[in-house]
Amino acid sequence: MSNGPAKANVSRETTSRVPGLLDTEILGAEEFGRTSFGNISPADTPIAAEAQRASQILHPGTADIPRPREQRVITIANQKGGVGKTTTTVNLAAALAIQGMRVLVIDLDPQGNASTALGVEHHSGVPSSYELLIGEVKVGDAIQQSPHSERLMCIPATIDLAGAEIELVSMVARESRLKTAIQEANLAGYDIDYVMIDCPPSLGLLTVNAMVAAKEVLIPIQCEYYALEGVGQLLRNISLVQSHLNPELHVSTVVLTMYDGRTKLADQVADEVRTHFGDAVLKSVIPRSVKVSEAPGYGMTVLNYDPGSRGAMSYLDAGRELAARAVLEGSAAAGETTEERGR
Ligand SMILES: Nc1ncnc2c1ncn2[C@@H]1O[C@H](COP(=O)(O)OP(=O)(O)O)[C@@H](O)[C@H]1O
Ligand SMILES: [Mg+2]
Repeated sequence: MSNGPAKANVSRETTSRVPGLLDTEILGAEEFGRTSFGNISPADTPIAAEAQRASQILHPGTADIPRPREQRVITIANQKGGVGKTTTTVNLAAALAIQGMRVLVIDLDPQGNASTALGVEHHSGVPSSYELLIGEVKVGDAIQQSPHSERLMCIPATIDLAGAEIELVSMVARESRLKTAIQEANLAGYDIDYVMIDCPPSLGLLTVNAMVAAKEVLIPIQCEYYALEGVGQLLRNISLVQSHLNPELHVSTVVLTMYDGRTKLADQVADEVRTHFGDAVLKSVIPRSVKVSEAPGYGMTVLNYDPGSRGAMSYLDAGRELAARAVLEGSAAAGETTEERGR
């Protein structure tokens, strides 16, 4: 029944209280807050941590995660298809939004799967990332709000994007068109904390645009055979973009996806990836879970589709970890929380 590593999914960062988990009536609320059960705080037990995460999903925007001082633009890339790019983009975005961040997802894959999961319209003719790239519309015309959260926005992809790789070739500043568009969005005052760009499974001009627009690259790696196949080429492309177009670009985050705790292989892959990427790899591992794969079929992220599932919990943990890394990225607003911002 277990489809993920219990340890990897238990966040130990949080120390706040979990109402309802203990009898606060008997202890008294004050005392409950001070009780540490020796050295163990309530959220140190797996059940407490899980209850806390469920409570966050039920009461969105009340969590205590640091807001980045500067907007973080993260490109989710891996030229291999089916490794969990889109799934990770939309679920991490939803996890951050639930915890009070304002998040914009830019769908740069003509298949439009991220747009589907976020429940936004993306049939041909809808203003989308395609029109944005070729300069026909401004960000404000293409942004849609996800019906799942007032803090979650999406610039969708339509099938029109399929021709963009070729159309872009002859355009002026063809590698930096997305970057320019995002800068316009900032000027338009959307007050977005995270921009997450879902890339197609290739290293063409769409992915290059995403890499020029971002400072950070997040690489999802599937815990399967040949997990690291092609990663060398991805890293070479990242360093090419870094040396010619965007000196600030770096791999900030690696996420292990579709982890199956029952197999030795998954552990071997996880070890190999950790040896290769070190601290860039998130401790939270995303388990293989039917709920995660079912959610897009309902136009939802797993956080909306089944908030109590292991998949939802693991993405929530991954989101917290990613947010905590704003400190490592040198851009965390120390002490400022979503509550202080009145969100
Ligand atoms: N944690 C998971 N558990 C089960 N299925 C998953 C998980 N993550 C992704 N999938 C499924 O794997 C397939 C590929 O994922 P996707 O995110 O579309 O990859 P990519 O964007 O890299 O092509 C999809 O059908 C998706 O539903
Ligand atoms: Mg995809």
